[in-house]
Amino acid sequence: MIIVREIDPADLALFDEWYDVLRAGAVAGREAALVVGRETLGWSLRNPGPLKRRLAVGAFEDDRVLGAMLFEYRLSDNLDTVEVEIDVPPEHRRRGIGRALWQWAVTRAATLGRTIFQAELGVPADPWPGASFAARIGFTVEHVEDHLVVPLPYDELRLDDLRAEAGPLKGYRLTSWAGMCPPEHQQAYADLHTAMDLDVPTGGMTRENVPWTVEKLEASEQRIDRNYLALVTMAHTSDGAPAGYTLIYLPRADAAHAQQDDTLVLREHRGHNLGTQLKLANLDQLAKHRKGQRFLHTWTALSNTAMQKVNNRFGFRVVEQHRELELTYPRLRPAARAVVLDPDDRILLVRFEFPSGPIWATPGLEAPPDAPHLWHQEVVAEGHAAGYDGVINDYFLVRTDPFTAEDFHGDRWWTLEELQTHDGRFSPRSLPALVQELLQHGPPTTPVPLGL
Ligand SMILES: CC(C)(COP(=O)(O)OP(=O)(O)OC[C@H]1O[C@@H](n2cnc3c(N)ncnc32)[C@H](O)[C@@H]1OP(=O)(O)O)[C@@H](O)C(=O)NCCC(=O)NCCS
Repeated sequence: MIIVREIDPADLALFDEWYDVLRAGAVAGREAALVVGRETLGWSLRNPGPLKRRLAVGAFEDDRVLGAMLFEYRLSDNLDTVEVEIDVPPEHRRRGIGRALWQWAVTRAATLGRTIFQAELGVPADPWPGASFAARIGFTVEHVEDHLVVPLPYDELRLDDLRAEAGPLKGYRLTSWAGMCPPEHQQAYADLHTAMDLDVPTGGMTRENVPWTVEKLEASEQRIDRNYLALVTMAHTSDGAPAGYTLIYLPRADAAHAQQDDTLVLREHRGHNLGTQLKLANLDQLAKHRKGQRFLHTWTALSNTAMQKVNNRFGFRVVEQHRELELTYPRLRPAARAVVLDPDDRILLVRFEFPSGPIWATPGLEAPPDAPHLWHQEVVAEGHAAGYDGVINDYFLVRTDPFTAEDFHGDRWWTLEELQTHDGRFSPRSLPALVQELLQHGPPTTPVPLGL
């Protein structure tokens, strides 16, 4: 049986096992997958910052991790959104592990009152398992970028050619630094980040952009600096106004991969070859600070023809598509419910009175930690829970000695035969068949998805 639960990142052996599974699932079949490093992710999970919560979730079978999920949500903006990454190594796929992790995400998001799911997908070929899985769940592709790579060290001859082609920089000054932004540039650099958030194409992805302040910049850079060396080159006009910047991250503990992150030239300064000049200057920094990294990665929207051209000139090659996905859920009220069976296999049900007649349902409970998770039910319909668009019920198996059910609630023990011959309604509707299946074959390997 597969059990999905959060892992404690301070349990180092378990974290390592979980991380190996995450990585193995993420890199399979991809030539140039970029996966956050073990040390970086471990540190981030063990030292939560004020802006974002990140949970490591594992799918376990007999205490072995077979699937991994990162479940993340921001704490001061984008309060309706969660981001998920689900990774199952090829040898454990098509057993429902991905879906079991997803069901956990749906329940947790509902508990947090969040309804927008976002995910990112590296797609090197078509068809692709991750794309099929995401489509099956209901995600839609809202934005597509090329994921490009150039080998390192950089081809100096190519750079010489580009420098000669670009000519001298006129009307602008460039300033470069490695690490945290120097205090005298913080305000300008924060403003450029704000402009970047507004300018960068994100297709149909829901994103609430909060302007950058110097405090936010400092807090963000401090966290990043523990795990990445930032290489930045910024452009100013001759009278000191900021015009653009470019940013490369060198992971401190990853020998192989460097990331070309943001490059922005403010609208009014475009058309002066500034993008190329910024990148050239920052590549000089890369040559100086590189610690053996062999690949430089970057991402560019298909629609961003100017940046595509620059990337091309710098020798980047497309290795896969990077897709951003989104799924908006109805607002569902989550509840854990107990399938309580006594030693004679009788099930305890509670009677609910509705205008349309009574419905017999399983009682609610505090989810017991190790109870087998039988069914995951999502019902979108009015009238199930006031203030919600519907309900999520997760059903857990509880074995108990018989006790006298409290009569005044209409509680009662039912044999399978009584369930099958009753002509009233149950919740879930197919309860008699579900209980029959449970009694015959035991709990399912992964929770059975149910509708009404
Ligand atoms: C995507 C991924 C997590 C799926 O894991 P999994 O455990 O194999 O998924 P499940 O067995 O729960 O599949 C659930 C449903 O998704 C669909 N699906 C999953 N893999 C599929 C594939 N290769 N082809 C077609 N449909 C697929 C099916 O409808 C499947 O139901 P079915 O098996 O009853 O037909 C796994 O392939 C993976 O780790 N890929 C790399 C990382 C990634 O792309 N993650 C997704 C982004 S969040």
